[in-house]
Amino acid sequence: MKVLVTGGCGFIGSNFIRLLLSEQPEAQIMNLDLLTYAGNPANLADVAESARYQFSRGDIRDPKAVARLIEEADWIVNFAAETHVDRSTSSERAGEFIDTNVYGTYVMLEAMREHCAGARFLQVGTDEVYGDVAYPGFPDETTLLAPSSPYSAAKAGADHLALAFYRTHGLDVIVSRCTNNYGPYQFPEKMIPLFVINALSDEALPLYDGGTQVRDWLRVEDHCRALLLLLQRGESGQVYNVGANQDPEVPNKELTEMILRCCGKPDSLIRPVEGLRPGHDQRYAVDTAKIRALGWSPQADLQEGVARTVAWYDENRDWWEPIRSGEYLDYYRKHYGQDSAN
Ligand code: TYD
Repeated sequence: MKVLVTGGCGFIGSNFIRLLLSEQPEAQIMNLDLLTYAGNPANLADVAESARYQFSRGDIRDPKAVARLIEEADWIVNFAAETHVDRSTSSERAGEFIDTNVYGTYVMLEAMREHCAGARFLQVGTDEVYGDVAYPGFPDETTLLAPSSPYSAAKAGADHLALAFYRTHGLDVIVSRCTNNYGPYQFPEKMIPLFVINALSDEALPLYDGGTQVRDWLRVEDHCRALLLLLQRGESGQVYNVGANQDPEVPNKELTEMILRCCGKPDSLIRPVEGLRPGHDQRYAVDTAKIRALGWSPQADLQEGVARTVAWYDENRDWWEPIRSGEYLDYYRKHYGQDSAN
C-alpha cells in the first residue's frame, strides 16, 4: 500500500502522516511538499527516519514531479494548498491561491488519469466553500457553494475539478470539506496558534470585528481520523462534510477568552482590530450526518482541546520560536503593523 500525500509538511498533512504511520502498518508514505512558508520539515522530525516514509521536495503544479510519484500510489491525499484567508485577500498574493489550489489540483488529477487510474484520490477541502452560513443553518453536501474569499473560491474550484474527473474520466475521487482545525504544528497565522503564541509571549491578540464570528473548531486528530476513514470506506464520487458541531457554538471572543484563561493571561491582551478582513464570514457550520453514518465522531470538548493545545505550544517553543522570523515576520509586520511583531 503506497500513499502519496501532498503538502505533508503542513499542519494537517503532517498530523495525517503521523496517523498513517501509526494506524496503517503496511502503508509506505511518499510526501510531496514544496516547503513554502507554511510547510515545515520540523513538523515531521520525529518520523523522518522511518523506513516507511519518503520526502520529495516538489510542486503539485509540476507534472514531471507529480508523475514520478503518482504512478506508484494506491491512495493520493491532496493537502497541498494555500490556506490563509488574509493572504488571499491581498492582490499581490491571490494568484498563488488560484495557481496552487486550482491548477495544482488539476495537474494532480491529470497525472492520476495518465499514470494510476486505479488509485483513490482524496481532495482535502474546506467548509468555507459554503460561504457565510445564516444561523441556524447547517449546509449538507448538496448545498450550493457560495465561497466568499479568493481562498475559498479557489478551494471550491478544486472540489469541482475533482468531481469532474470522477464523472468525466471515471477516477475514484472523494472530496472532504472540513471545518476549522486546531492542534499541534499549526502555523501561527491562523487564529488559535497565533493567539496562543502571542498570549504565551505577552503580546496583543488581534481580535477582528468584535469577535462575534463563529467557527466550528475541530481537533486536527479528529479530522485526520475522518480522512483515513474516507479513504477506507468512503464512496467514490461523494463529498463528505467533517466538523465538530460545537454545541453551543463558540464565538471568536469567547474562544479568545478561553485561550487567555488557559495561558493564565489577562483579557487586556485582546486588541480589537476592524476591517483587516474584507468580506469576513460571520458563521461556518456543516451538517455532518453523512460521515457520522460511516461511524466517525469527533471529540467536541473545545475547552479541553484548547487546554491541550496551549500545553503543546507551551512545551514546544523550539518548534515555533524559529518560525517567528524571516518571511513570516515580514508578512506579519505588513499585515498587523510594525508594533505587533515585536
Ligand atoms: P482563521 O484562523 O484565519 O481561519 P478562517 O478564516 O479560515 O476561518 O480565522 C478564524 C477566525 O478568527 C475568523 O473569524 C477570523 C478571526 N481572526 C481574528 O480575529 N484575528 C486574527 O488574527 C486571525 C488570523 C483570525
